[in-house]
Amino acid sequence: MWNKVQETVKFLQEKGFSTPDYGIVLGSGLGNLVDVMQVEVKIPYEEIPNFKVSTVAGHSGNLYFGTISGKKVVIQQGRFHFYEGWSMQDVTFPIRVMKFLGTDNLIVSNASGGVNADFKVGDIMIISDQIGFLMENPLLGINEERFGNRFVDMHDTYDKPMIVLMEQVAKNQNINLKKGVYLGVSGPTFETPAEYNMVRNLGADTVGMSTVPEVIVAKHMNMKCFGLSVITDLGVEGEVVSVSHEEVQIAAKAAEKVMSKLMVEFLSIL
Ligand code: HPA
Repeated sequence: MWNKVQETVKFLQEKGFSTPDYGIVLGSGLGNLVDVMQVEVKIPYEEIPNFKVSTVAGHSGNLYFGTISGKKVVIQQGRFHFYEGWSMQDVTFPIRVMKFLGTDNLIVSNASGGVNADFKVGDIMIISDQIGFLMENPLLGINEERFGNRFVDMHDTYDKPMIVLMEQVAKNQNINLKKGVYLGVSGPTFETPAEYNMVRNLGADTVGMSTVPEVIVAKHMNMKCFGLSVITDLGVEGEVVSVSHEEVQIAAKAAEKVMSKLMVEFLSIL
């Protein structure tokens, strides 16, 4: 793994990736952030050594290097999900690469199902903490000390100063952001009503199929993490609601403009 990361980093540096200030994973809802970026390099995943190729409709696969709001960023447009059959190491590989390109900061976005009764479809939530419910951890196996310690402290997983800053940005822009706990499952099934109840009872506000592995690996390498989640559907107590991938995509798309606007100002003052 160590050698693979170094090989990929070297390849990207030769293609013009220099040291980024921030690594950004564009999940559903932030796909168009690349439109406001001054792109220096864009490389499709299939050309990058050791990268997998995203197999999900609506998730494109490109790695970008460039500038947003004066900050150098490396952007992963489209992520790898555990439910696609990739290993946890494959899913989190790009985060290792971002770190060794030279950034200590990770920003993620995703779509999730809201189980908090105060949430509605289209809301955007700052992720304040996470619950790993994927039943597999990306750090299982022999620990590579050059990446980080065997036992990783997860008390301060989502960076508090970055959360405060985003709350300020939202206030400036008159946007009502939610804040809460994201629970990560493997998917690809959406939850049964009983499972949505379980998610709520476990203390989460939303549930989704990504992010937790990437953030664990980022913390392994001592990176600061920040995350936004678009609520694309609801698992509300006592109500029979259905959800489809298409609905999730539509709701996430509808939030893109607001998400990008938040992120542009956030990056400018970070
Ligand atoms: N459950 C799991 N993953 C999701 C959901 C959901 O309701 N919505 C978007 N991603």
